[in-house]
Amino acid sequence: MCGIVGYIGNREAYPIIIKGLQRLEYRGYDSAGVALLNGEMNVYKKQGKVADLHNFAKNENLKAHVGIGHTRWATHGAPSDENAHPHMSNNGRLVMIHNGIIENYAALKTDLKKKGYTFQSETDTEVFINFIEDIYQNTKVDLPEAVRLALTKVVGAYAIAIIDVNQPGQLIAARKGSPLVIGIGKGEYFLASDATPIVEYTSEVVYLDDEEIAVMGKDGLSIKNLEEVTTKPYIQTLDMELEAIEKGGYDHFMLKEIFEQPKSIGDCLRGRLNAAEGRLHLGGISDYVNKVMHADRILIIACGTSWHAGLVAEYIFEDFCRIPVEVEYASEFRYRNPIVGEKDVVIAISQSGETADTLAAIELAKSKGATILGVCNVVGSSIPRTTHAGSYTHAGPEIGVASTKAFTAQISVLTMMALMIAQKKGTMAESAFRKILFELEAVPDKVAKCLDLNAQIEIIAEQFKDATNFLYLGRGFNFPVALEGALKLKEISYIHAEGYPAAEMKHGPIALIDENMPVVFIATRDSSYEKIVSNIQEVKARKGKVIAIVTEGDKHIVEMADHIIEVPHASEAIMPLISVVPLQLLSYHIAVMRDCNVDQPRNLAKSVTVE
Ligand code: AGP
Ligand code: GLU
Repeated sequence: MCGIVGYIGNREAYPIIIKGLQRLEYRGYDSAGVALLNGEMNVYKKQGKVADLHNFAKNENLKAHVGIGHTRWATHGAPSDENAHPHMSNNGRLVMIHNGIIENYAALKTDLKKKGYTFQSETDTEVFINFIEDIYQNTKVDLPEAVRLALTKVVGAYAIAIIDVNQPGQLIAARKGSPLVIGIGKGEYFLASDATPIVEYTSEVVYLDDEEIAVMGKDGLSIKNLEEVTTKPYIQTLDMELEAIEKGGYDHFMLKEIFEQPKSIGDCLRGRLNAAEGRLHLGGISDYVNKVMHADRILIIACGTSWHAGLVAEYIFEDFCRIPVEVEYASEFRYRNPIVGEKDVVIAISQSGETADTLAAIELAKSKGATILGVCNVVGSSIPRTTHAGSYTHAGPEIGVASTKAFTAQISVLTMMALMIAQKKGTMAESAFRKILFELEAVPDKVAKCLDLNAQIEIIAEQFKDATNFLYLGRGFNFPVALEGALKLKEISYIHAEGYPAAEMKHGPIALIDENMPVVFIATRDSSYEKIVSNIQEVKARKGKVIAIVTEGDKHIVEMADHIIEVPHASEAIMPLISVVPLQLLSYHIAVMRDCNVDQPRNLAKSVTVE
């Protein structure tokens, strides 16, 4: 986690850094800090949000043309002023910000202590910068070389930025496992964990690769890897609009992103799908269709909401393509001894493209010979750069920590993938294939209709905002939607919620039901409709409060449920794209009514770049 910003050039560094940190705050918000170099090194840091830092620092001397800033998601040491970054080395010369974890920090710290080093914080980062200082002082090399030598000895993940009080014309950065982007302006350089702090200054960027060290400043930009090989910076043009990363009149990014879904799903389908012509083409995976078609099985690897999208995809791929699918939590997959072979195809799903567990699982599957396809949102992020091929979701920047539009875009891409393979493999009748194409094309309009229910959902939210528990139940394609609805509620409103396959209720969770238990049923018209109606009756018989998501015109469940939310009809394979929308809105309104920080829920961060 953690957000990193750096600047070197002719402008004032502080406003660029503080604005950049605000854009990166979704990555962590335990503390924030800046280091500004202007003859002397001034470091300001504060527990809390970037706004707290600004209030604390605004009357200080903030003039500088070189600086670095950090917004933290604590891994080593509690959120506090002392543990906030930047961290300074013992001799006061070097200052560092860090995103990641140094796994061998304890051993390094013991050695440094023996040499007389002292520490002000509990962080691994402070050990890291002193380790660099120690090498720098005891060898006759320059700072970039001292950094390189240190990096060959540290174990773990890092994106770092370092400035040296004696070398104001130089900003050093390096990465392994955590992202870093360099923006190139006219005689100036910007550094950040993602492109959002950079976009308003330049569209020319270089995505640093793992084990690369960049030196920016008066002498331009040079990049070397840990083996001392100089690499030529590969300059890419950013395709990002400024308004895409601003709230645009909405109270929260999450609400904006929920409301963007008709457009984001439309953007995801555009140019790839034409139902009238029966055409479907995902350029990114076209060379791999044969491989997937003949795969022994498909392994889907992801975390959190992306894992839920993977579960929906399991139902879709097995139904459309008749290929066995397993959906794995990336973190579990990598720590057992999984059986993976060359005839397996792995699909890694990630909004950020930076999730450490997912990245590590990919590396593991790759080392065993599997073919890896990625489904990611953030262009240029680490996962798309390590996979063999893949398709972007094109949902645009998702800033709210709770994932919404990325989920529906992931399912849209995965559905198109499955359709492409099913068509080639001949496992789907042409008429069924065409029908799903039309249905996919109609999703943006149907999602827009769900958004029209916002006011009604707000009224329902009002009645349940003080609940302490929630159950979410769904069957078939709607089972992962139940899981997703429960995750959305718990992460932003802090209400305990469980998602279950509706039929499993009677194997345990039914014991929880009483007159105080709200139960959300996703009970749209599909092949298990009759069964889920029985499940609703079972809950009503025990006086549970039923909120049911039903298909428009449903006459049956209306009689039983306490609250009804009617969504447009769709085939069951397409329904998750629609039925999830009211659940996103329900959790949003409940969280707002409980006065929770919707976009930055406690303890969480958007991009989980630590394991
Ligand atoms: C979703 O609302 C979450 N905050 C979280 O579960 C997220 O989906 C997960 O961390 C995976 O992230 P990724 O898609 O960026 O890999
Ligand atoms: N390990 C560092 C700390 O705890 C950085 C944390 C991170 O990147 O999440 O301060």
